[in-house]
Amino acid sequence: MPSDSNTCAETGTSEAQALSGPRHVAIIMDGNGRWAQARGRPRLFGHHAGARRVREVVSCCPQLGVKYLTIFAFSTENWKRTQVEVSGLMSLFRRYISKEMKALAARNVRVRFIGDRLRLDDKLVQLMDDLELETAQNDGTHLTIALNYGGRDEVARATRRLAQDVADGSLLPQDVDEETLPRYLDTHVLPDPDLVIRTSGEARISNFLLWQSAYAEYEFIDTLWPDFTAEELGRLCRRFGGRDRRFGAVAT
Ligand code: FPP
Repeated sequence: MPSDSNTCAETGTSEAQALSGPRHVAIIMDGNGRWAQARGRPRLFGHHAGARRVREVVSCCPQLGVKYLTIFAFSTENWKRTQVEVSGLMSLFRRYISKEMKALAARNVRVRFIGDRLRLDDKLVQLMDDLELETAQNDGTHLTIALNYGGRDEVARATRRLAQDVADGSLLPQDVDEETLPRYLDTHVLPDPDLVIRTSGEARISNFLLWQSAYAEYEFIDTLWPDFTAEELGRLCRRFGGRDRRFGAVAT
């Protein structure tokens, strides 16, 4: 660990290391259920512990040079869980937004949500809108929460809108290229993720940011999400700084 006086005690990262770290980190927060089960507690106990980690991770982003943080909170597939777990998660999201709104706004965090809002209940959607509005002027950390999000669903919804523009005549089929589709994605205002982290030992991406992660670096770590710390994020960001990213080109 560097002994530099500018090293952050919480993350173990110096200012110089923060500059070479990832600008956009995306996280698949997995392992809440197993964490709770290991303690003989219901799965929702793990989700509540996971929500506390979200707070810690968001607050350490500025020290790490992470300008964009995108977290996978609920997938289009998560509706297959029991009704108790789904409604418990929905009420956790409502509580999180109500409780954190002021602190996020005060810490200069800009919050956005991605995913399909149509299946979410009106009260939750209203809170999401409020939080987006309340933090719209902030320019510190850009926190994006993926809620009822699936990468394939996002591409399908984007394609539908793109096809509508072609049908209306505002877009010509021959003008559709690699730059066109991202403009229709939920993430159209965000840069692509540089680093995607999945906790809990599973090595799969589970329909998360499929288009956007084409050139991301991946970290699959064993830690269960409720045990994930700012220090561990710092270690992964420093490791990212040492990687040679060529984007398909040859090293010079
Ligand atoms: C996956 O763990 C986690 C989820 C489906 C929910 C993620 C939600 C949180 C971390 C809660 C807080 C989020 C916000 C934005 C307040 P799992 O339940 O699949 O774990 P398992 O694989 O061990 O069963």
